[in-house]
Amino acid sequence: MTFTSNVDSLFLSVVIWSELGWRQFAIVNDEKLDRNVKISYDIIQRAKKNLTKENIDMPKVTIINGSPTPGSRLTAMIELADQLLQKQGFEVNHVNVGELPPEDLIHTKFESEAIVKANGLVAEADAVIIASPVYKASYTGVLKTFLDLVPQKGLAGKIILPLFIGGSLAHLLSIDYSLKPVLSALGARHILGGVYAVDAYIARTDQGGFEINEELAARLEDNIAELAEETKRRVQYAALK
Ligand SMILES: Cc1cc2nc3c(=O)[nH]c(=O)nc-3n(C[C@H](O)[C@H](O)[C@H](O)COP(=O)(O)O)c2cc1C
Repeated sequence: MTFTSNVDSLFLSVVIWSELGWRQFAIVNDEKLDRNVKISYDIIQRAKKNLTKENIDMPKVTIINGSPTPGSRLTAMIELADQLLQKQGFEVNHVNVGELPPEDLIHTKFESEAIVKANGLVAEADAVIIASPVYKASYTGVLKTFLDLVPQKGLAGKIILPLFIGGSLAHLLSIDYSLKPVLSALGARHILGGVYAVDAYIARTDQGGFEINEELAARLEDNIAELAEETKRRVQYAALK
């Protein structure tokens, strides 16, 4: 297929543009292909392939830790999730709500530097993990003070994975009845089932670390794998739109 005239060239540009969208169009041009002579549908397909395999930015996950206690067993779940995601090629960022300035949280200071930075990490994420211990049959109050500062619809378009840990199984459904309505109000529409653990599944070691039992580790692996797959699919789809 050969293109010689300016009309052909213009037509071709429109075809590439409509086929691939702005970003891919730029990539095709970056390759300095001579649009007048040799761009064909095959090249478009190759550009698409390159984009999905190599040119898409590393997908990002932000983990919001809603525990006010630094040494919480929740840390073990978060660390495992972080490792698994990094292995899958994700950039992982963290918002530790317990480390944000209490004044900013209590007085809902949307403009504070720390809150703006934390919200930036949420905004740029393709997926968000919301982790919390169960306090009084719900997620923690500290986590709510941060969620109140997330902009309206701040979770729209993101894949969400809840991770909860409680002293007992009695509040197994707290993810559904307490967290999910809030996530929904923040615009989240793709919320994965989530992982509920109990303290007994995570032992503290003499060295100050944690040991997660096999059953919980397997559930975490399954859920992270699902999060990774869904997120990559969504990122690739968005890039090819
Ligand atoms: C203030 C407070 C309230 C709690 N309320 C509940 C509860 O309602 N249901 C539950 O299963 N566990 C509850 N727990 C237990 C914690 O969810 C559980 O121990 C969690 O894993 C925190 O562990 P950590 O001590 O390693 O941070 C509560 C703990 C605290 C400190």
